[in-house]
Amino acid sequence: MIGSDIRLAASNLKLGLTVGIPTETVYGLAANALNEDAVISIFKIKNRPFFDPLIMHVRDIEQAKEYVKDFPETAQKLAIKYWPGPLTLLLKKNDKVPDIVTSGSEFVAIRVPNHPITLKLLEAIDFPLAAPSANPFGYISPTRAEHVEKQLGNKVSYILDGGISSVGLESTILKVSDKDISIARLGGLSKEEIEEFLGKEIGMQLHLNSNPQAPGQLDKHYSPENRFILSDNLELSINAHKGKKIALLTFGDKHFDETIFQLNLSKSGDLHEAARNLFHYMRLLDISGAEIILSEEVPNFDLGLAINDRLRRAASK
Ligand code: TXA
Ligand code: MG
Repeated sequence: MIGSDIRLAASNLKLGLTVGIPTETVYGLAANALNEDAVISIFKIKNRPFFDPLIMHVRDIEQAKEYVKDFPETAQKLAIKYWPGPLTLLLKKNDKVPDIVTSGSEFVAIRVPNHPITLKLLEAIDFPLAAPSANPFGYISPTRAEHVEKQLGNKVSYILDGGISSVGLESTILKVSDKDISIARLGGLSKEEIEEFLGKEIGMQLHLNSNPQAPGQLDKHYSPENRFILSDNLELSINAHKGKKIALLTFGDKHFDETIFQLNLSKSGDLHEAARNLFHYMRLLDISGAEIILSEEVPNFDLGLAINDRLRRAASK
């Protein structure tokens, strides 16, 4: 059931049930992070392997501090600047955080989501929420309550409707220690913005398959069901697939054969608009009846880095 009853959502969560929650990045599948059975049900509903840890959502920095051993100075600086917002910090957890949440890691991923409804919800409960994106494991993340309803509607107790996610990409994950800072997942807060704020360059340590510390990094992810191909020349690719039912996902002011179904991430070339549209459009293309979805990369800077990351994963076999 979809609705806007924050009190009902809170009481369901207190009972150990799962609830779909809106955030500015994507919708989450939330449960009481301190209740192991509730957390296990998240993994089951998503069909997610237990080695893939969950992000913990809290209402503010003070609540975050209750669950970590230390909060390095740079991490605090970032939290003060960007929370609530699309930034997740990997910090050393304390014993209050169940191991099931972090898949046994000594680090917990933690963030304050920037959505008025979910912030009110976090005020109404006295525990943090473990919440991965509210999609079946490996599929496209949801940016509208209807996306959650369609795929997990019969498995969650309630879905809080908070409209369309304003950022549209999952949070950027940063690993921060006293000495070192690196990006573990590209996301809705750009690398350039963080670098400008800190006044230094930061590295990327995107964790890959074999030892998935951030298994959002599993190669194939965010995937539509249909064949999704990234092309560096759409005209040529369209010709190469003549005779098949093609759909296009494009960026900028481009026009193709009008008989081909085309969705444009941003006609004006705005990467933030493209981020907001990305997952919704991927879903629309997936149900468009096309045999092949052809897409292209967007400019590789600002949110384009994260958008291209998701496009490449969607296209990876
Ligand atoms: O924007 C977001 O981050 C959304 C909303 C709902 O907050 N959540 C989200 O969660 O994208 P999920 O589970 O789909 O992706 C979380 C990523 C995964 O790649 C996971 O491996 C990584 O964060 N992660 C979580 N806890 C971790 C930990 N303790 N150490 C390393 N990586 C972690
Ligand atoms: Mg996810």
